[in-house]
Amino acid sequence: MSPLPSGESSVEVVVTPDPEGLAEAAAERFSKAAEKALAGSGRFTVALAGGSTPKGLYALLASEPYRSRVPWPRARVFWGDERCVPPTHGDSNYRMAEETLLRRLPIPREQIYRIRGEDPDPDRAAAEYEQVLKTVFGLRPAALPRFDLILLGMGADGHTASLFPRSPALREVSRLAVAPYVEQVGGYRITLTLPVLNHAACVMFLVSGQEKAATLRSVLAPGAGHDRPPAGLVAPQGGVVVWLADRAAARLLQDPVRGKAQS
Ligand code: 6PG
Repeated sequence: MSPLPSGESSVEVVVTPDPEGLAEAAAERFSKAAEKALAGSGRFTVALAGGSTPKGLYALLASEPYRSRVPWPRARVFWGDERCVPPTHGDSNYRMAEETLLRRLPIPREQIYRIRGEDPDPDRAAAEYEQVLKTVFGLRPAALPRFDLILLGMGADGHTASLFPRSPALREVSRLAVAPYVEQVGGYRITLTLPVLNHAACVMFLVSGQEKAATLRSVLAPGAGHDRPPAGLVAPQGGVVVWLADRAAARLLQDPVRGKAQS
């Protein structure tokens, strides 16, 4: 059984008319999260999502006004997960973000922390990524990194990052990053774990398309408990989870949930 996060998290669901509106709403919240982080710690730590949905957001962030509004030189950029491919591969989440966003921004390259998907030993790559997290966040042993913002997508099966239904990775309670074999894709992935996702100040899901509507309804159903799909297990303790969905993905929701969700 997957551990539900303890504690309280705020849930907000925002429905936009279309994917363009989704990207705009996400860019606005991304920018606000960055400004809030800068005012607090003086830097902005963010984990990017892979897949295709975030591309519209990344294109907006790479252009004005967001290119100027976000304090990119103070950003530390990570990924929520990575496929086990080289960074030049068409499936690489790094490559997608590099091409749509990062290469167009004034971020010092040493502040971009790529997951080494090309490593023939995925466990070693996950352990290396975990060490980078511990170093950059200055973590004491057994401490968790608190990202200012984690971007996530959701598959039609309810997976998020590379945490898939029935995956043993869902039961990880201490590692920051793991490299599970994913039956659903027939290969290994490297992913942040639920403890890290549930320690973020803000998690923002971007969900688009009618094929995700049934899953989104089950993820947001009150009281679904342990039976929720992996995306439904993300509820950062003392943090905020914002679900941004376009109308197609939200078409089966009774009414958007707002306010605090007790878990
Ligand atoms: C990945 C992502 C994954 C993605 C979902 C949704 O590496 O693919 O981490 O969790 O967010 O599969 O993907 P789409 O945005 O392409 O629908």
